[in-house]
Amino acid sequence: MDEIRLSEYGRSSVVPSPVNRMMTDFASDFRDGVDINLGVGYVNEETIPVDAIRQALAEVLRQPQTYRQPLNYGGSAGTSNLIASIRRYLLEAGIGLTEELLSPRRIIIGPNGATSLLESMACVLPVGIVVTSDPMYYIYTDLLERRGFGLLAIPEDDDGIRTDVLEEQLRDLGPRAADVQAFYVVTVNNPSCAILSDARRRELIRIAWDLSQRLGRKVPVILDRAYEDLVHDPAVARPVSGLAYDPAGVVFEIGTLSKVLAPGLRIGYLVGSDGPFLQALIQRTSDAGFSAAVVTQEISSWLLDHRIRAQLENVRAGYREKAMAVRGWLNEYLADDLACIRGGQAGFYFYLTFRTIETHEGSPFFRYLTRTTGAEIVDGPSGDRKPRVMYIPGEFCVHPRGSLADTGRRQLRLSYGYEGLDALHSAIRLMKEAADYAQTVR
Ligand SMILES: Cc1ncc(COP(=O)(O)O)c(C=O)c1O
Repeated sequence: MDEIRLSEYGRSSVVPSPVNRMMTDFASDFRDGVDINLGVGYVNEETIPVDAIRQALAEVLRQPQTYRQPLNYGGSAGTSNLIASIRRYLLEAGIGLTEELLSPRRIIIGPNGATSLLESMACVLPVGIVVTSDPMYYIYTDLLERRGFGLLAIPEDDDGIRTDVLEEQLRDLGPRAADVQAFYVVTVNNPSCAILSDARRRELIRIAWDLSQRLGRKVPVILDRAYEDLVHDPAVARPVSGLAYDPAGVVFEIGTLSKVLAPGLRIGYLVGSDGPFLQALIQRTSDAGFSAAVVTQEISSWLLDHRIRAQLENVRAGYREKAMAVRGWLNEYLADDLACIRGGQAGFYFYLTFRTIETHEGSPFFRYLTRTTGAEIVDGPSGDRKPRVMYIPGEFCVHPRGSLADTGRRQLRLSYGYEGLDALHSAIRLMKEAADYAQTVR
């Protein structure tokens, strides 16, 4: 008998994405306290506000007049308490958002974090081209490709997406520019943590608006601000919201409470102008699960209203300390091998470009760190492998047919979010050993 028939999307989802496969392999025999995982996007466990969450739950259950029916089903746009709390949070964030900018716009809550809002967008937009920066947020671009979208991946520098290259490439598309359905840019990029500068943000929006006018339809600019609340370098000004530069309701900002409170709450939100796009996203939330869990929406509302200032300070301080330490170790151990270090001012990733050493899955560097060289002296005996280090190879982050495809083979993303300082230090020492090994077996 034939297997169960699948849609095109179903067929392309049968095989896990390369990153999922790699992480699953690694997680299946991960040894706590021995192996070091710099690959996951997990946040800092130390700064998840466990006590405050416990208190928030108690308050939500104790105040039924304020937090109505928190254990029942909820409306698909989000609870009014949480929406009001996010509105206040954004107004107080010092990112150029005013009542004037926010009152004509809506805030909606996705069914399950920012990820689900991104997935919803892939459902409601027509298949076509999505413009993004290179290196790309590989988790979402992988989904977009499985849904049939094409990517126009534009290289970035320290200020984010290169808008000069973007204009050039849009011109080169010729009539195919009519297939562009959206711009998707992560404002503190994942994987690189490059911060989109104000000038680039304005340019990006201007270019999208020019294209919209040319095509006679609005082309949305989706700004993913997942890490924007985690600008921890005091020398960097808080970025100004793209909504401040929105000429006519084409800018939509997606945010998440995962990075500042806890991913387990699964709260992601979208801010933008009401209209068919937003309406379709709300219906999609209903289709996907009615709403985000009401109880975690209300817990989040309480946390935003009562604890967020101290929490933000705590979270930023935690990442600042780690970023400085990791940068110091990168300089101490790997400076001679590296051509470029990006990150360290916001979020919790460094994105490294080696001069000559390759980092992809088949490379000696990768095999040294995952103890898969086949040489017992490097890997340790089979029942007792030496400590392993996992990172995200750049080859999975760059567009395989883009201008960075070759460079990506010498790049990697390391996350300092999850592991503690001692493990991070050990990991970078092991990376130095792996770099030396890679040079000897060349
Ligand atoms: C750029 C970006 N957007 C969105 C998300 C997902 O956020 P959430 O936990 O709200 O689904 C992440 C998580 O790592 C991310 O890196």
